[in-house]
Amino acid sequence: MRKNTVIVIDYGSQYTKLILRRIRENRVYSEIVPVDTPVDKILKMQPAAIVLSGGPRSVYDKDALSIDKRIFEAGIPVLGICYGMQLMAHLLGGKVVPSDTREYGRAEAKFDLNSPLFKGVKSPSMVWMSHGDKVEEVPQGFKIIASTEDTLIAAMGNDEKKLYAVQFHPEVSHTLFGKTILKNFLFKVANITPDWEMDSFIDTKVEEIKKTVGNKKVILGLSGGVDSSVAAALIHKAIGDNLYCIFVDHGLLRKNEGEIVYKTFKEKFGFNLKMVDASKMFLNRLKGVTDPEQKRKIIGKTFVEVFEKEASSFDDAEFLAQGTLYPDVIESSAHGGTSVTIKTHHNVGGLPEKMNLKLLEPLRDLFKDEVREIGRILGLPEEIVSRHPFPGPGLAVRIIGEITEEKIKILQEADYIFIEELRKANLYNDISQAFCVLTPVKTVGVMGDYRTYEYVLALRAVKTEDFMTADWYEMPYHLLKRVSSRIINKVKGINRVVYDITSKPPATVEWE
Ligand code: XMP
Repeated sequence: MRKNTVIVIDYGSQYTKLILRRIRENRVYSEIVPVDTPVDKILKMQPAAIVLSGGPRSVYDKDALSIDKRIFEAGIPVLGICYGMQLMAHLLGGKVVPSDTREYGRAEAKFDLNSPLFKGVKSPSMVWMSHGDKVEEVPQGFKIIASTEDTLIAAMGNDEKKLYAVQFHPEVSHTLFGKTILKNFLFKVANITPDWEMDSFIDTKVEEIKKTVGNKKVILGLSGGVDSSVAAALIHKAIGDNLYCIFVDHGLLRKNEGEIVYKTFKEKFGFNLKMVDASKMFLNRLKGVTDPEQKRKIIGKTFVEVFEKEASSFDDAEFLAQGTLYPDVIESSAHGGTSVTIKTHHNVGGLPEKMNLKLLEPLRDLFKDEVREIGRILGLPEEIVSRHPFPGPGLAVRIIGEITEEKIKILQEADYIFIEELRKANLYNDISQAFCVLTPVKTVGVMGDYRTYEYVLALRAVKTEDFMTADWYEMPYHLLKRVSSRIINKVKGINRVVYDITSKPPATVEWE
């Protein structure tokens, strides 16, 4: 394993991924390790520190997840969070009291500012609680280092052994000094050198890809989105012309999308790139279809069909590359098959299985912001690297109701103006996703001396960390005004513009 790695042992908290992200933000590499990993194996990895995550169980449950307590005796700094704290207390001889009621939400904590864990923290300040059981007695050698009104032992520490634990969640932003606390653990307690640099990641990955692929060929479906673009650039750096990229235009892309991809990857980087215009086929199959799920299914199926056909012309390929990221990996393993389908995301879960290709996923260990950084280092244009996500079915789910060529054109033009204005106002990167939606509603308007009867266009912009929940973006009025007037003046077919002020939940980000 990499030197200076922090291991996070996952007890099933919804925040585990966030812990990892917060650690990596500090340029310290971190990996999640499944809870059933034998302790000898963990010790052999020689982690620089260990974090025990939170989790939904009680240490008294029959199926409680535990850990061999030798983990606390190896001289490795450990931070227990929530369930991780209870586990540490329980295994080291403290006392955990079960509880039927949960303490949930913000609480004001008083901190012992002499503890290295809390250097620079303001006391008292807010922390985020979400727990049932709590620690009632600390194990021998430990001190109480934080308290709230309801929880006397909100944090405990053993300076000599470098074992610390907090009942609250430092990884969530509601804990005001959470970032400082994690930083203190990494740098003041564990004395880790921050050396997780993307340059060195690229070198290591390139070597790894060379070794795995040898002189075989790799196929990659390039969408123009951040993930597939960065995966392509990285693999290309490793194997050059042995990477075959396929770009399928389903006719539901944003304005100039194909052109940007062509200019960047074919003209600038000289990739082996096949551009496939399948828009007629997609639009034919979507004729008369109004149901969103039906649209997704048709597009998903047709996409696989087209891709398979194109890929089969590269019959010497042995690998299929995908830009899968770390959150995709965790989400699909954590929630696989058990959650209710709200929308079927056809490009999550992947491309044809029957193609019999081995998967190559060089970005599997990374978060989106890390992928963007790699893209920049590899010389991809900012236009691609900082791009908002774009759904696989594209504009099909942003044209409410039936899709026609005319509506696609209207939406492309309007969307182009909206995004251009956001970039000009320097707000694009502050927004997680922004786009236009063409509603099927027509309203009356007046232009010059004429009465008009045209479509209503909705603008949507949201801010989110993970797209599971999202807030609508507080767009400056003057910008809304500018976008609206430019769209109405320039885009034929629209005479009214509205702004969507609904968060997710209860709405979703897309309208369909
Ligand atoms: P929702 O609308 O589900 O969107 O709140 C959350 C995120 O997922 C994207 N999205 C999709 N991505 N295929 C995709 O690849 C889809 O069918 C799809 N539907 C929604 C959406 O753009 C947002 O980023």
